[in-house]
Amino acid sequence: MVNIGVIDSGVGGLTVLFDIINEYPNCNYYYIGDSKHCPYGKRNTEEIKKLSFKLVNYLVINKKIDILVIACNTISSTSTTYLKSQFKDLIIIETVIPTVNYIKNMNVKNIGLIATEATINSKMYEKKLKDYNVIPKACPIFVDIVEDMNSTQNKKDIIVKQELKSLIDQNIDTLILGCTHFPLLTKSISKTFNGKIVNSSKAIIIELEKYIRKNNKKGIVEINTTGNNKMFEKQIKIMFRKEYNVNQIEIW
Ligand code: DGL
Repeated sequence: MVNIGVIDSGVGGLTVLFDIINEYPNCNYYYIGDSKHCPYGKRNTEEIKKLSFKLVNYLVINKKIDILVIACNTISSTSTTYLKSQFKDLIIIETVIPTVNYIKNMNVKNIGLIATEATINSKMYEKKLKDYNVIPKACPIFVDIVEDMNSTQNKKDIIVKQELKSLIDQNIDTLILGCTHFPLLTKSISKTFNGKIVNSSKAIIIELEKYIRKNNKKGIVEINTTGNNKMFEKQIKIMFRKEYNVNQIEIW
């Protein structure tokens, strides 16, 4: 059975993990949310490279993963080349190129891109979508309100409306959720923006297909955090209405 490692700075990558599991249940999944160092989006590239190297190294050594899914746009846009150079035998799937390919098959004109500061500063999406009008906006506060279990729906609605106003005023018809935490704000986003919403999951599912070997056995799902495991279990329960035992791992 294929062993797939999935990494993110926190709970955001779970939006990708749960979508992939639905599509490909016959693989083993090993997730790490680096809650101890979340958010990554406010860090510089060198720090993000160092942190993500440790996560991948842990999965390669301890879980013998065949495929790595970088379920984090911040790591994808700053560290993919570096991680590929360090783990040459690993199949590495990141978020940016699959999402760009997905967009190219759509009929879109004005694209709003919301992401973390690090992803926006990398300019990776604009570079790969040169023929499109891409309007970027860093929304680091979205990561904070997603990670905070006490954020009310009303608070989320107000913040999302404020943050998206400038993009909507520029007539965007499509919005890229360039951070895997953001699908957890879809309810608030849909209340204020009624165009097309693109997230990383669908694009990653398409990309993964060529590496998946179909079989009839259900794989295992192991969720790890570098932060507090009880807190992570609670976040999963509140945000995804799912029950998982989470392991607390020591990497540093
Ligand atoms: N979920 C991440 C992303 O896709 C990172 C959020 C953060 O840690 O700032 O960019």
